[in-house]
Amino acid sequence: MRFNASDISESMYDIAEPRASAMIESLRAFGYNVQTAIADLIDNSITAKARNIWLSFCWDGANSHISIRDDGHGMTEDQLISAMRPGSQSPLEEREADDLGRFGLGLKTASFSQCRRLTVASRSANHAVAIRRWDLDYVNQVDEWRLLHTPAEGSIQKLNDLEGMPYGTIILWECLDRIVGTAKTDDQKAQDDFLETVEVVENHLAMVFHRFLEKRDRLKIWINHHSIEPWNPFLPDAQATQILPLELLTFKDKMVQVQPYVLPHHSKIDSDTYNKAAGTNGWNAQQGFYVYRNERLLVAGDWLGLGGYRKDEHCKLARIQVDLPNSMDNDWNIDVKKSRARPPASLKADLKRIARLTRYRATEIYRHRGKVIARENAEKYVFPWDKKLRRGKVFYAVNQEHPLVQEVLNLPDTCQPVIRALLRLLEATVPIQQIWIDNATEPEKQAQPFDGTPSDQVLEVMVEIYRSLRKSGMTQEQARDRILTMEPFQHFETLVKTLSDQLIRGNLA
Ligand SMILES: Nc1ncnc2c1ncn2[C@@H]1O[C@H](COP(=O)(O)OP(=O)(O)O)[C@@H](O)[C@H]1O
Ligand SMILES: [Mg+2]
Repeated sequence: MRFNASDISESMYDIAEPRASAMIESLRAFGYNVQTAIADLIDNSITAKARNIWLSFCWDGANSHISIRDDGHGMTEDQLISAMRPGSQSPLEEREADDLGRFGLGLKTASFSQCRRLTVASRSANHAVAIRRWDLDYVNQVDEWRLLHTPAEGSIQKLNDLEGMPYGTIILWECLDRIVGTAKTDDQKAQDDFLETVEVVENHLAMVFHRFLEKRDRLKIWINHHSIEPWNPFLPDAQATQILPLELLTFKDKMVQVQPYVLPHHSKIDSDTYNKAAGTNGWNAQQGFYVYRNERLLVAGDWLGLGGYRKDEHCKLARIQVDLPNSMDNDWNIDVKKSRARPPASLKADLKRIARLTRYRATEIYRHRGKVIARENAEKYVFPWDKKLRRGKVFYAVNQEHPLVQEVLNLPDTCQPVIRALLRLLEATVPIQQIWIDNATEPEKQAQPFDGTPSDQVLEVMVEIYRSLRKSGMTQEQARDRILTMEPFQHFETLVKTLSDQLIRGNLA
């Protein structure tokens, strides 16, 4: 709605500006932690086209400081003043497609969440270095939004690194009340905590920016002089990683890409790779959707409240990459910290379906372990169905080598025409399309062989196979072992063990 300025006269309103002292303190409470706060500053550096970002954590008790320097295009003095203003750009304004910013708040809210003094020095090409500082204690005292022109006393040398650069920016955090408080320089415990923070930040950045760190002309992030290696949640290079079909979902004429992965069982990769892939929170916690906005990770492993899915141990190998453009921010409810995203209603059904399928496929890895082991130990594994190719087309045929099929094919000649006709009819009418659709839409509703069948009925089938194996000259033991290598009887080990000639005679009686 648009107001007409002449309709509202001066007598009709008061100016109720936010009180600087109260407001600047509440800007601290957006819920960042050190790692999410630094990630937000790195977004700004990436948007400014930085190729290198140098993080420095300097321990000096209560005087410790953290700085983030980049070789991006920097800011002129006017641009810096505007950048320091809380709410420098409205979230409703359209942004460049590769802009990682969101509310025009990040620089301020992320910094204030960790420190009471924020100094920014920036240089744009062919300009002098510009400096501005927010000092919370000073704003509090004067109760006005006074943005200072100089660094704090004794802090100028912490900005020196910019001098040798043609353009770039340094963000300096001092008075780190939330990270070091009033610790003394020789407080060993506090120093250890500070160093641990460096590690936490490194792991977080390795994950959040892995796509940028992996590219050919890639971004480099240095932390206290060593460069951060990317952490890719999907192990795309491991041979045993299953890459399920990519899905493209349309939303408001734009595309959301969804790429599900099922990561390898630990027996399929070396233990170092497996342990590293567990991520900072461990395998179970890292399952689910990974939502990226312009390739920057927002959500790292979450089922997004879809389908009531929980983080179940047997689904821990399921990880799904979701790619959004930054034009969908409102619809996905991206928050200031950029650590939350919720899918719009119209995409929920598709995402739920993809989640269900991926979870099912991840569970299958454990379910199939038994089968694979049996197969590796068997001289030959017998399936009742064969996949065949005829004139370039795939079809499924009843395996004529299967002992039970052999038995039927050895019945008297008079029965043969009807048996062969039945087998042909079954083979020609396998409802492949229907099975395929059912399996894709409701995988968990697909019954496993003999699922829910009473064991005496399973035994009935087993006994017939056992008998034909015995007839072919196998000993009791050989016949039993053979059945254990047959689909699907490897899942009925105890039942197979009860097989013996005596039992069969009893069965016949
Ligand atoms: N490292 C940087 N290099 C260049 N410009 C920056 C940098 N950091 C911040 N800015 C400028 O400051 C503005 C405000 O940043 P911020 O408060 O994080 O909000 P947003 O990123 O949502 O725009 C940015 O839009 C950008 O113009
Ligand atoms: Mg920002």
